[in-house]
Amino acid sequence: MASRSLLATVCLLLLLLLTLLGSTLVEARPAPRSPHRNAPRRHLWTTNAPEGSADGYPNTWYAHRKLGEESKPPKNATTKGVQFDVGSFGATGDGQTDDTGAFQNAWAQACSSEQPAVLLVPAGKSYLVKETSLSGPCKSKVTFKLEGTLVAPEDKSGWSKQGHPHWVSFSNVDSLTVTGKGAMDGKGKTSWKNSCRRNHKMPCTFAPAALTFSSCNHLKVENIKLLNAPQIHLWVEFCSDVTLSRLTIASPGNSPENDGIHVAHSDGVRILGAKIKAGDDCISIAMGTTNLYATKIECGPGHGISVGSLGKGSTRAEVSNVTIDGAHVSGTLFGARIKTWQGGTGYARDIKFLNMVMDKVKNPIVIDQNYCTTSDPSKPKACSQKESAAVEISNVEFSNIRGTSVNRDAIRLHCSEAFPCRGVVLRDIELKTRGGDEKNAATSTCENAVLGETSNVSPAPCSSAATKEDLVPLGSEEDV
Ligand SMILES: *[C@@H]1O[C@H](CO)[C@@H](O)[C@H](O)[C@H]1NC(C)=O
Ligand SMILES: *[C@@H]1O[C@H](CO)[C@@H](O)[C@H](O)[C@H]1NC(C)=O
Repeated sequence: MASRSLLATVCLLLLLLLTLLGSTLVEARPAPRSPHRNAPRRHLWTTNAPEGSADGYPNTWYAHRKLGEESKPPKNATTKGVQFDVGSFGATGDGQTDDTGAFQNAWAQACSSEQPAVLLVPAGKSYLVKETSLSGPCKSKVTFKLEGTLVAPEDKSGWSKQGHPHWVSFSNVDSLTVTGKGAMDGKGKTSWKNSCRRNHKMPCTFAPAALTFSSCNHLKVENIKLLNAPQIHLWVEFCSDVTLSRLTIASPGNSPENDGIHVAHSDGVRILGAKIKAGDDCISIAMGTTNLYATKIECGPGHGISVGSLGKGSTRAEVSNVTIDGAHVSGTLFGARIKTWQGGTGYARDIKFLNMVMDKVKNPIVIDQNYCTTSDPSKPKACSQKESAAVEISNVEFSNIRGTSVNRDAIRLHCSEAFPCRGVVLRDIELKTRGGDEKNAATSTCENAVLGETSNVSPAPCSSAATKEDLVPLGSEEDV
């Protein structure tokens, strides 16, 4: 019995192998120009295997075989499935003509494909794309292969004004992969100039996020570059099982509210390698994030790696099991930070910042539970009032963190009176001020912080009394 079933398995595997080897990817146009069919043609799977079920296997094994192609030798054999090239949908790639429609049509085809589909954005061209929403659910796996460059129009005035506008957003797509050597240039200059944080006469509005994933489970985003986003570069929300690898994100250090990667309401996000230059947080880990792991992060300029801000506008926020393991942070305002607003509720717990190098970071280690921004014109004094509610912070570890602090107060743990931070572990930390003479030696100030284990920490934790000036929340530095 055993050998027979083994033989059957071997036969099955052989057949599968032959099928895959014989399969071919054939280019076709989306427009219904074919004299044979009215339906749009696509790139089709073909196979040299016979049709029908003579071999005992169902027809579906040989999906969409095209008649008359049996004799052609397989070219560019691939197992990736059908491919949709945006060029075939009329995208010009001249960087001037609006190619949005072509992307939407290509997406519609890729998303409704029965076989795994690749939406190809070819290399060497620049595609002007406006606010675009690409949604699922899709019939099969879709890979968005970005080899060329997407550019946003400089003028985004006609874009959605409800909540956060999004430049390119994917929603409700399972097992989506976005990959390639290409880039997305958000052309954020105008938005930065018109931000109320730059120009206090302007109303405070949200500028578009460049690339958004909402409700996308089993998501992979790899290799692409995101440049000059009007606000957030990469936004992940309501997703689970997400891998972001080898990303490059770049915009000027003075671009307002300009986060690199923003994660909210998501579970199981892994960030495996990212080089981030941004105007705000390199990575912001916001409400509803659980089980996040980040490693090989290069950050700077920017505001460092932040959990938060949490609890804005008295909201409830829950964040747990976040590990940053391996980051080089350079020339930033902050390094490893947890920030929660006064008046919020919920918790941030089991947070680890491990193995970080701080290079000329203004405030390397910060817990700020009284966070607020004084630049909100409607609440000029918000920072001074202490509220009784707070997002509770517990079980936080800062471990193996070395480097230089620009400000003296290198380790600031400023927690709320109502809910002191509990279980803060500091281990193997060495932060020096530049120059580092005794008069200007690094210090550590604390307020309502209950430390757990501390060992081998310099400056000694909570060794300096917090002055009134220290207690001005750092949020007053126009940071969100
Ligand atoms: C395979 O496709 C690529 C582009 O997708 C092309 O550059 C290459 O020449 C093709 N190879 C063959 C053997 O057709
Ligand atoms: C914390 O998150 C990691 C993924 O980063 C996961 O492997 C681990 O199981 C989680 N721990 C708990 C206690 O859930």
